[in-house]
Amino acid sequence: MRNVLCIMFLLLLLLLCFEPTFQQLSSRAERVALLNLRSSLGLRSKDWPIKADPCSVWRGIECQNGRVVGINVSGFRRTRLGSLHPQFVVDALANLTLLQSFNASNFLLPGVIPDWVGSTLKSLQVLDLRSCSILGSIPLSFGNLTNLTALYLSNNKLNGTIPTSIGQLVQLSVLDLSHNELTGSIPLSFSSLANLSFLDLSSNGLDGSIPPLIGSIRQLQSLNLSSNNITSSLPASLGDLSRLVDLDLSFNKFSGLLPTDLRSMSSLQRMVIGNNLLGGSLPEDLFPSLRQLQELTLNDNGFTGAVPDVLFLIPGLRLLDISGNNFTGMLPNSSLASNSTGGALNISRNMFYGSLMPVIGRFSAVDLSGNYFEGRIPNFVPRDASLESNCLQNVSSQRTLADCSSFYAEKGLSFDNFGKPNSVQPPLAEKSSKNNKRVILGSVIGGVGFIVLVLLVVLLFLYIGGKRASGNQRGVSVGPIPTGSSEPPSGLSINFASLGESFTDKQLLQASGGLSDENLIKLGHSGDLFRGVLDNGANVVIKKIDLRTVKKETYLVELDLFSKVSHTRLVPFLGHCLDNEHEKYLVYKHMPNGDLASSLVRKTNVDDENIQSLDWITRLKIALGAAEGLAYMHHECSPPLVHRDVQASSILLDDKFEVRLGSLSEVCAQDGDSHQNRISRLLRLPQSSEQGSSGSQTSICSYDVYCFGKVLLELVTGKVGISATPDTQLREFYDQTFPYISIHDKELVSKIIDPNLIVDEDFLEEVWAMAVVAKSCLNPKPSRRPQMRYILKALENPLKVVREESSGSARLRATSSRSWNAALFGSWRQSLSDLTIVPAAAMSRTVGGSFKQSGTSGSQGSGQNNSGEASRRRHSKEIFPEPPDEQGERAEYHYQ
Ligand SMILES: *[C@@H]1O[C@H](CO)[C@@H](O)[C@H](O)[C@H]1NC(C)=O
Ligand SMILES: *[C@@H]1O[C@H](CO)[C@@H](O)[C@H](O)[C@H]1NC(C)=O
Ligand SMILES: *[C@@H]1O[C@H](CO)[C@@H](O)[C@H](O)[C@H]1NC(C)=O
Ligand SMILES: *[C@@H]1O[C@H](CO)[C@@H](O)[C@H](O)[C@H]1NC(C)=O
Ligand SMILES: *[C@@H]1O[C@H](CO)[C@@H](O)[C@H](O)[C@H]1NC(C)=O
Ligand SMILES: *[C@@H]1O[C@H](CO)[C@@H](O)[C@H](O)[C@H]1NC(C)=O
Ligand SMILES: *[C@@H]1O[C@H](CO)[C@@H](O)[C@H](O)[C@H]1NC(C)=O
Ligand SMILES: *[C@@H]1O[C@H](CO)[C@@H](O)[C@H](O)[C@H]1NC(C)=O
Ligand SMILES: *[C@@H]1O[C@H](CO)[C@@H](O)[C@H](O)[C@H]1NC(C)=O
Repeated sequence: MRNVLCIMFLLLLLLLCFEPTFQQLSSRAERVALLNLRSSLGLRSKDWPIKADPCSVWRGIECQNGRVVGINVSGFRRTRLGSLHPQFVVDALANLTLLQSFNASNFLLPGVIPDWVGSTLKSLQVLDLRSCSILGSIPLSFGNLTNLTALYLSNNKLNGTIPTSIGQLVQLSVLDLSHNELTGSIPLSFSSLANLSFLDLSSNGLDGSIPPLIGSIRQLQSLNLSSNNITSSLPASLGDLSRLVDLDLSFNKFSGLLPTDLRSMSSLQRMVIGNNLLGGSLPEDLFPSLRQLQELTLNDNGFTGAVPDVLFLIPGLRLLDISGNNFTGMLPNSSLASNSTGGALNISRNMFYGSLMPVIGRFSAVDLSGNYFEGRIPNFVPRDASLESNCLQNVSSQRTLADCSSFYAEKGLSFDNFGKPNSVQPPLAEKSSKNNKRVILGSVIGGVGFIVLVLLVVLLFLYIGGKRASGNQRGVSVGPIPTGSSEPPSGLSINFASLGESFTDKQLLQASGGLSDENLIKLGHSGDLFRGVLDNGANVVIKKIDLRTVKKETYLVELDLFSKVSHTRLVPFLGHCLDNEHEKYLVYKHMPNGDLASSLVRKTNVDDENIQSLDWITRLKIALGAAEGLAYMHHECSPPLVHRDVQASSILLDDKFEVRLGSLSEVCAQDGDSHQNRISRLLRLPQSSEQGSSGSQTSICSYDVYCFGKVLLELVTGKVGISATPDTQLREFYDQTFPYISIHDKELVSKIIDPNLIVDEDFLEEVWAMAVVAKSCLNPKPSRRPQMRYILKALENPLKVVREESSGSARLRATSSRSWNAALFGSWRQSLSDLTIVPAAAMSRTVGGSFKQSGTSGSQGSGQNNSGEASRRRHSKEIFPEPPDEQGERAEYHYQ
């Protein structure tokens, strides 16, 4: 009896415990929906028996309180009928209003994801559609699934671009879009995915760049972008991903150097960046902080220099592949464990030399082939190690004696001659004394050459002096005029006397530590920049121009520019060294605050997540300074000069954050100017000589204005990198930003202001004004962009910009004819309609049509009616000083 009671009690308990799983579906509508789904997907009675209760009996159905919250048909088989025409028909899901999870991975759904999925299944948290053979693009409406935490769409045939709206899914923790056919660039909006920990976009056709602010995805633990076509350099903010464990960027076209500061990435276990176009040397101080590193793959890039010893000694390292680079140096002679920890080492196809060292013994699979190692094979080298193409003793398939000896000789080392006697190498001491002799001989020859050069220069001077009665130039310190093949095309009148000092290459090598990698600032497109210190203690920046890779014109253009113009807003040019045939050097004053691109936002401290960004007053000062420089080039030089490379990294900042414009190698005279374009005519620059080609569109002043607009936007929004990003990738950024820039609504702009910027009411108006100016610069129609001098005025009087215009005072407009303000807003009104309503091409002719539209947005301007607007427009057209040529009409490629 007691037993029976006991058992009954237990049964009751069981019933109570399992009550939730025994629950029945309580909603009739949901039952109908499930039956519809069952038939549209062609599911079998075995899985979803038609008579039984779905919640308690059907496979893969999860219910809560009698409602369906989860469906999992992953890997289900269809009925024979259902598998004849499998389709993406899941309309019934719309009636399961509490559905949180839908898993159909490995279930064929060949078709396009219906648009309504995004706007209807609002409560969805997990959507798994991996390997479903889905076609078409990811619906824009997915941005509405704001409760989504995991989205898996990998292994399908999705094409088109990744919708920007995905950036709205702030709850998202997993996003897997890998193995599809997606194109375009990664939306900038991804940097708002604050909870994302896993991002896989690998094996698509993505191109463009990584969002510069990728570092703001603070939770990111795994980032896989491998096997795409991404071309940018690695953004500095990558170093902010302090939780990142797994980074795979391999098989892309990433270029440039490693970001200088990756030291916060202390969780990193796997870093795979092989098969790209990266270069430079590995920073010595990088690896001690990467304590967790287990796998490092840098193979097949263009890395150079020595490999920091610590890299070979990271305790947990199981795979080190640095093959196919240009690394050199000897292996570290460390007393640390040579006991094998397993793992693989591949340092093949580099230029390592010297003896094999015990560190090799840490690894059980070893490839050392294609280097210059010498000596015997010690015991610690695994038996099956690849050793061919070295300079090793008693090993087959080694390099030739000549190859090995000359390699070692170049390094000033002696080669062991494969262990055979009669070394042909001179001992080291003798070698270096020989070198000394060479130096002496070199300087004697150099001296003679110098005298010859001076003679030549004097002759040339007499010649030039005869031809032009120009005022006498200061300084006799005349640089050597390039002779022979490196002579500028005849007729180019570079005045070397006004071109600063002429340095010897020895001076510059000494100043920059032999132009060593440590002193490399960046690899620029017109030459590589190194920092240096001259004998007199002056800090300088040296640009090395290798004429084998860079066109001669680029440095001649710069020399010509500096010989003709000088302005406090241009980077101070100190001198040059043109002695070598292939390598030319230009020397500039060092700018302590670098450039705007690197100063706008700086990390205060390595481990700290705090960042320091320029305050508003400094930003405005920088905008003004840059505008001054450009206004000088556009309006005070004759012919007007176009900078053509206006971006944050071209805006250099001295110790007081005063602007000095740099990157002047692209400067050219404005095309089609009434003055002849002397520089480009003489040099036959392709950019300016080919009328109508893509190049000519950048050689008008309004191109600079456009680029300057991007810089201003960068200052306002703090989105570092905007000005360096091509327009094709900024469309969405513009689409997201422009609606918040309105001359009629100050508050709107606060939605796009850099969150790091502390702006009070006073400043807000200035920020607003700068945003308004930026937008008018970014008018797709070159002829509608304001001229630089008006932009300068506007930035000098930011409050006038917004106050006068937004007050809508007709009196002001009537009296301010030809004023800068009118000029700016002639373009502004136009840009409102251009950008938001009519495709740019149709614009200029459709006067009435476009204007009606801007009338609606201008209604708060003290209630003007359409006729008032029309007269305003006519008026603004009268006073807007448009460029006289038709160039503008042709150059409509921006913002396409
Ligand atoms: C549903 O999902 C789980 C994993 O979440 C899986 O293990 C299971 O096999 C799936 N299928 C069914 C029918 O439950
Ligand atoms: C979906 O189901 C598959 C297979 O049953 C499982 O491996 C996978 O983890 C499930 N997806 C999610 C997001 O749980
Ligand atoms: C959803 O439910 C409504 C009302 O019950 C019904 O009219 C409609 O057909 C259902 N839709 C689908 C796709 O099942
Ligand atoms: C989204 O999640 C929140 C919090 O879990 C919940 O309150 C809300 O109802 C969900 N939204 C929808 C549409 O289910
Ligand atoms: C994407 O795929 C669909 C379906 O296969 C196709 O119709 C469409 O043209 C494709 N779009 C692009 C941009 O390739
Ligand atoms: C859903 O997203 C689309 C595209 O982003 C948008 O146009 C629509 O208004 C959204 N719908 C809802 C109900 O939020
Ligand atoms: C990358 O681009 C090249 C040429 O533009 C193309 O041939 C190649 O298929 C692309 N690779 C990927 C993975 O899309
Ligand atoms: C390595 O450097 C040499 C000499 O600087 C150069 O010729 C070669 O192309 C480089 N190789 C690679 C893979 O970058
Ligand atoms: C290497 O292994 C040997 C024997 O297995 C051991 O005696 C020695 O201490 C080890 N060396 C180190 C540095 O761990």
